[in-house]
Amino acid sequence: MRTLYYEEPVLFLLDQNRLPQEIKYVECHTADEVAAAIKNMAVRGAPLIGVSAAFGLFLAVKSYTGSASGLRDYYQEKRKLLASTRPTAVNLFWALKRMDKVFASQGQSDKEKLEAVLLKEAYIMLQEDIEVNRAIGENGRGLLNDNCRIMTICNAGALATCGYGTALGVVRSAARYGKLQLVWACETRPVLQGARLTIWELMHDQIPVRLITDNMAGFVMQKGLVDAVIVGADRIAGNGDTANKIGTYSLAVLASYHGLPFYVAAPYSSIDVGIGSGKEIPIEERDPNEVRQFRGTYSTVAEVDVYNPAFDITPHQLIAGIITEKGVIKPPFAGRL
Ligand code: MRU
Repeated sequence: MRTLYYEEPVLFLLDQNRLPQEIKYVECHTADEVAAAIKNMAVRGAPLIGVSAAFGLFLAVKSYTGSASGLRDYYQEKRKLLASTRPTAVNLFWALKRMDKVFASQGQSDKEKLEAVLLKEAYIMLQEDIEVNRAIGENGRGLLNDNCRIMTICNAGALATCGYGTALGVVRSAARYGKLQLVWACETRPVLQGARLTIWELMHDQIPVRLITDNMAGFVMQKGLVDAVIVGADRIAGNGDTANKIGTYSLAVLASYHGLPFYVAAPYSSIDVGIGSGKEIPIEERDPNEVRQFRGTYSTVAEVDVYNPAFDITPHQLIAGIITEKGVIKPPFAGRL
């Protein structure tokens, strides 16, 4: 299942808000449509957000009908829009910067040529992402014992990327080599990426998976049913502090208490060496109705006050290793990322 593909003149984005009940694609012709799909989480997951935004900039140039002299301002306007969609995943800004370089290296007078090089760069990022994830999978497998039972949260899988996944890339690699017994998937309130997406993609690949609600994780660890926790990342600071889906920090604390290794699996594009610690990572707060409702049905009093941070920060002291495409980085992380 492709999360994203381009068929002239349409960018197709798998609508993850509808999964697992419906398999439908959002059709985008413009950067505005891509920005909306990222913001409303039809596409989500740090690497996929980045690559989608790259295609969004290509669509911006493609759909531009004004004079050559106005193209740069138009590009900047659409870039700003895409950059404003979700603040935490650094892959978004990484991808936009990569497209900026291509834009800057090409004159704006030949629009067709400019479109072609931007499209090419977006495709390169798509292909690279899959290769990087396969390498992460290979590198992570060596950390695991035979018959491993892995706990994860959210969806850091094929659906969060252009294919294969990061944390679930390690799971896939372990499964292929007969090392995996089971994945414990936390449902991941409030948007249920674990229950809706991780379960769906692992069951599709016939990888053994068991669903729990987030508040069951401690009990499952206490019973000795987990060997390692592996999660993805939206942004890793220079000291190793990691922003990932809300609830990740709780899992890391629980893993530490139970003496279990807690790993982060992420590409280098998720590392932000420009910032020293997790304190500097902007944490997105989303619509309170995500907590009050599920698909339009209230599970609480409609007027209740809500706090809805989409991510949390796991301090580097709780992380046993960061699994990247270039290898596993063990602590201390500072200066080595
Ligand atoms: O809000 P989401 O669904 O975009 O959050 C996704 C996560 O937190 C993932 O774990 C992270 O982006 C890594 S995806 C390979």
